[in-house]
Amino acid sequence: MSEKVAIILAAGMSSRMNTKLPKVLHEVCGRPMLAYVIDACRNAGIQKLYIIVGYGKEQVIHYFNSDKDITWVEQKEQKGTGHAVLCCKEHLAGFDGDTLILCGDGPLIRAETLSTLIEKHQREISSATLATAILNEPMGYGRIIRDSYGNIQGIVEEADCTPEQKSIKEVNPSYYCFKNKVLFEALSKITPNNVKNEYYLTDALRLIIEAGHKVLAVTAVAAQDAMGVNSRQQLSEAGKIMQRRIQDRLMKAGVTIVDPPNTWIDARAQIGQDTVVEPFTYIHGRVKIGVGCRIGPFAYVREGTVIGNDVVLGVFTEVKNSQLSDGVRARHLSYIGDSELGKNADIGAGAITANFDGKSIQRTKIGDGVFVGPGSVLIAPIEVPARMQIAPGSAVSSENIKQ
Ligand code: UD1
Ligand code: CA
Repeated sequence: MSEKVAIILAAGMSSRMNTKLPKVLHEVCGRPMLAYVIDACRNAGIQKLYIIVGYGKEQVIHYFNSDKDITWVEQKEQKGTGHAVLCCKEHLAGFDGDTLILCGDGPLIRAETLSTLIEKHQREISSATLATAILNEPMGYGRIIRDSYGNIQGIVEEADCTPEQKSIKEVNPSYYCFKNKVLFEALSKITPNNVKNEYYLTDALRLIIEAGHKVLAVTAVAAQDAMGVNSRQQLSEAGKIMQRRIQDRLMKAGVTIVDPPNTWIDARAQIGQDTVVEPFTYIHGRVKIGVGCRIGPFAYVREGTVIGNDVVLGVFTEVKNSQLSDGVRARHLSYIGDSELGKNADIGAGAITANFDGKSIQRTKIGDGVFVGPGSVLIAPIEVPARMQIAPGSAVSSENIKQ
């Protein structure tokens, strides 16, 4: 099998999103869109990634900076997808393998689809292969033009479509695999001869077909996965689809989610078997929850929280950046911030940690078996020894605690 690399296009500034943030950093279920595309490539066995950045490049590079398999390539002016790929010319000029091309604004991509695409491309010794999707509402996507034998003739952008071409339902989700040398040869010949005055990558494909190379189009992308996010509406739709996938994965792993549409779980959250997530629960960030817990209804679990087993977090309880040992209970109206809770600690209704003194964040440590009476405030920094009982309605600071 020949070597393969991927180019991910992420330089655009996205006027349609009306945003200052680079488009690919907009989040879907807690992670930037680009992170999903990178993951899909890695999971499909791609070892080297070239990511084209331009608008807001510092921010994009900063986010992924520690990733050693990425080479950042700058596209100074955004003159179209074909021009973006050409920016890799110096890096890839001598490369004799296959080059995958994807867009950073397509977070719903799956590694399996890429593997199918690569496998087909290599097995059939094709010069260019693209994965297509059939959409009931193809508006906004490049349409796949086939001849009467079903062979692909080219891709026409929505803006350049005739009314007849607009009715074509087969679209280009922008998942391509090219023989690298064929790709760059074609790219050197494209011109910005279209409504948008851009250098289209899709024109390179047409030139490859016209030169008589073997080009395949496989309908390999599920309609649900094809979405390229160009607007805030599409961003929210992609979020909904991704949320469904996250919850399906967790349910397969033995987590009960009582009311999936009214629950939100971050892509990075881990939840153990037989934990029950009750409705209106919001789990955000890199959170870890153990087995046999009951979370919610209306619980808010935030970044940096690690929860042991058999923990109960009830209605309107918020936990942030805290470690909760096995058997902790906080059933009603609590705020637990920057805290460490020992085994079976019981936080009464409305008891909170005051972790912020107006200037800085302080930590709270609560020992095993502590009972914090309802309505109490623990003023951080504070350490409550094991098995201490705090009377309801207490305001407790470290001076109040006698060891
Ligand atoms: C593109 C495809 C279209 C396809 C659709 C799928 C072309 C000409 N069109 O259209 O056929 O149906 O994706 O979602 O390729 N980018 C750069 N530099 C540029 C221009 C774009 O890096 O100069 C990046 C953008 O950041 C984005 C991606 O390329 O991540 C796609 O660009 P976008 O403008 O969104 O293309 P579409 O119009 O959606
Ligand atoms: Ca797009």
